[in-house]
Amino acid sequence: MEKMIGEGKVVCVTGASGYIASWLVKLLLQRGYTVKASIRDLSDGKKTEHLVSLDGAKERLQLFKANLLEEGSFDSVVDDCECVFHTASPVLLTVKNPQLWYVLSKTLAEEAAWKFAKENGIDLISLNPGCVIGPLLQPITLNLIVEMILNLTKEATFPNMIPYWVDVRDTAMAHIHAFEMASASGRYCLVGYNIHMSETANILRQLYPTLTISNECEAYPLVEGAQVSKVKALTLGVKFTPLEVTLRDTIESLKEKGFLKI
Ligand SMILES: NC(=O)c1ccc[n+]([C@@H]2O[C@H](COP(=O)([O-])OP(=O)(O)OC[C@H]3O[C@@H](n4cnc5c(N)ncnc54)[C@H](OP(=O)(O)O)[C@@H]3O)[C@@H](O)[C@H]2O)c1
Repeated sequence: MEKMIGEGKVVCVTGASGYIASWLVKLLLQRGYTVKASIRDLSDGKKTEHLVSLDGAKERLQLFKANLLEEGSFDSVVDDCECVFHTASPVLLTVKNPQLWYVLSKTLAEEAAWKFAKENGIDLISLNPGCVIGPLLQPITLNLIVEMILNLTKEATFPNMIPYWVDVRDTAMAHIHAFEMASASGRYCLVGYNIHMSETANILRQLYPTLTISNECEAYPLVEGAQVSKVKALTLGVKFTPLEVTLRDTIESLKEKGFLKI
């Protein structure tokens, strides 16, 4: 039998029950890796069941309890690992203007990671996805970005913005390629499609003609970021899933998980 690329290799995924991390764990197991996965509450079946039922999990998935806010909590998890996929991120929703604090926390965290990596000789690569959508593996939690798609099917208005869409599966795969490719280095932005919410709504309308899709855009000034180049991401071998496929799979997943009743 042909050897799988991850066979005999141990890697760690932090915040493993999260949206992106769950896909990362699934794809790593598929490639033969042994995965040490961190979760804050191992007794919560809603955080663990979808992981332990993945193909290969019985043989090669180990769950560990760890919390970023507890010093030393990750020591035994990252021990012996060839790579740490660090996706866990503490989010404080009690602050005023959480979006601003989120952006600041991500910027400071990345700066601190680069400084630490330089001082300790760690081979760091950072991946910065845009607005991640696509099917959910975890059962109950919906992040704000996927909720934006769900809201298009219920709310009267949608934000006047041009999101940086990227498929969750492409995001997870890019992380794996960044580890597997010796030539990978530095920072990568992962953005597949940069189209306005109204165009996103149009695609959904074509895909689901019987579904009520909002056609009212908020009057607020357009929220537009800089265009993000795909050139560096493509060097990682990322093949961006067509947006129509990602949107269809998102809606189908929302239906299957009971978030959308049609
Ligand atoms: N989704 C996007 O559109 C997007 C875009 C750009 C960047 N990102 C970044 O990508 C990463 C993953 O995003 P996601 O959407 O997959 O997020 P997610 O579903 O909310 O998952 C985040 C994970 O972090 C864990 N976590 C939170 N606080 C923690 C703590 N104190 N200690 C240990 N673990 C903790 C959570 O664990 P519990 O399950 O225990 O709550 C959860 O599993 C995050 O760093 C996020 O900022 C996401």
